[in-house]
Amino acid sequence: MNTLAFEKYESEVRSYCRHFPTVFTKSKGAFFFDEDGNKYIDFFCGAGAVNYGHNNDYIKEKVLDYIANDGITHSLDMYTTAKRDFIEYFEEKVLKPRDLDYKIMFPGPTGTNAVEAALKLARKYTKRRTVWALMGAFHGMTLGALALTTDKASRRGAGVPLDSNVVHIPAPYMFPELDTIKYMETLLTDDHSGVEKPAAFVIETIQAEGGIQVFDVEWLKRVREFCTKHEILLIVDDIQVGCARSGTFFSFERAGIKPDIFTLSKSIGGYGFPLALTLFKPELDVFTPGEHNGTFRGNQIAFITAKAGLEYMLSHNIEAETRRKGEIEKEFIEKEILPLDSRIKMRGIGLIWGIDFSEIPVKGFADKVQDYAFAHKLIIEGAGRKNAVLKTMPPLIIEDETLLEGLGILRDAIKEVLKEENK
Ligand SMILES: Cc1ncc(COP(=O)(O)O)c(C=O)c1O
Repeated sequence: MNTLAFEKYESEVRSYCRHFPTVFTKSKGAFFFDEDGNKYIDFFCGAGAVNYGHNNDYIKEKVLDYIANDGITHSLDMYTTAKRDFIEYFEEKVLKPRDLDYKIMFPGPTGTNAVEAALKLARKYTKRRTVWALMGAFHGMTLGALALTTDKASRRGAGVPLDSNVVHIPAPYMFPELDTIKYMETLLTDDHSGVEKPAAFVIETIQAEGGIQVFDVEWLKRVREFCTKHEILLIVDDIQVGCARSGTFFSFERAGIKPDIFTLSKSIGGYGFPLALTLFKPELDVFTPGEHNGTFRGNQIAFITAKAGLEYMLSHNIEAETRRKGEIEKEFIEKEILPLDSRIKMRGIGLIWGIDFSEIPVKGFADKVQDYAFAHKLIIEGAGRKNAVLKTMPPLIIEDETLLEGLGILRDAIKEVLKEENK
């Protein structure tokens, strides 16, 4: 394993490679391969960017064809057949059947770009300055999105104050005795709250980086009602838990709610190519031409893979399969992992499950489990406060057998670390 080039020339900002210290060469389905010939089960899934598997053959064929035929690779936001085909398919097969009437905007290619566009639009439309977000949120690393993101380590890098345009609301799991909706009502109605009416309330329906916190349907419905009542725009960030991860294509479907604005990225690109979408109700479309411009808005190759990804998702029943595999995983965790120690907790839905070690008073417990798992060829990443939660997020196409094998490695890793700690 030769990592000299990275260590010598790549910035200290590099991150995931520190947890997974090898040099990867290939990937397929739910597996990664490194240059030393090792095969790893992937429970990280590019942070949710390759839900349909690494190098999915169906999608690969489409993109190879497109490139072989000199399909356009770059065209700013000019009209192309690739973009038209994607828009029409997405509209017909995904939005319409769910009765979702939205305009689609292609901001820059990453998730944080989609969030920035959503914030800009919400502020422009409402002519209000502040935005509310939840504690525990992760929405990206550029300044606007970072102002919503709450973890200290990320915010520290900003170098400027982030708090002048954002108010953070406690997430409902933080103080179970606090009715967060009533709290927000009070912020608006109490003439001594000191808080002004926001342009928007931004939420994830499942906080992924926040430690796999799944918000219940009742709470989500009340959030929708609250926002409607006060004419505050509801923005749902579906960048990580969208694209069928939660068992329905959009994570907000389970609550039967419709956001005013929502964001998609990661797996909407289908094949790991960067693509981001900001979607909003047609009446919110107050941008003037070029007002949120950019060179890489709507990656043409990603339009091909995005459409192919949706075709694959629909023809392979990925939503139902995700729910079915999620049950397998839930049962495994309940039967094989929770009994290892009463302080271990689990949370999740679909194929995103968190194993929470925060009640175990050993510094870096989850990191040790992660390291052991990696040494035994499982790639899994941490999340949540103090990084005390391990997030299992395999590609949705993972075979049952591989899912169970990966979970077995995770169980053995936890067992081993518990044994070490109890020595
Ligand atoms: C919910 C959510 N929003 C936004 C982002 C930012 O996306 P990107 O890293 O592509 O900028 C992420 C990334 O993990 C995310 O999970």
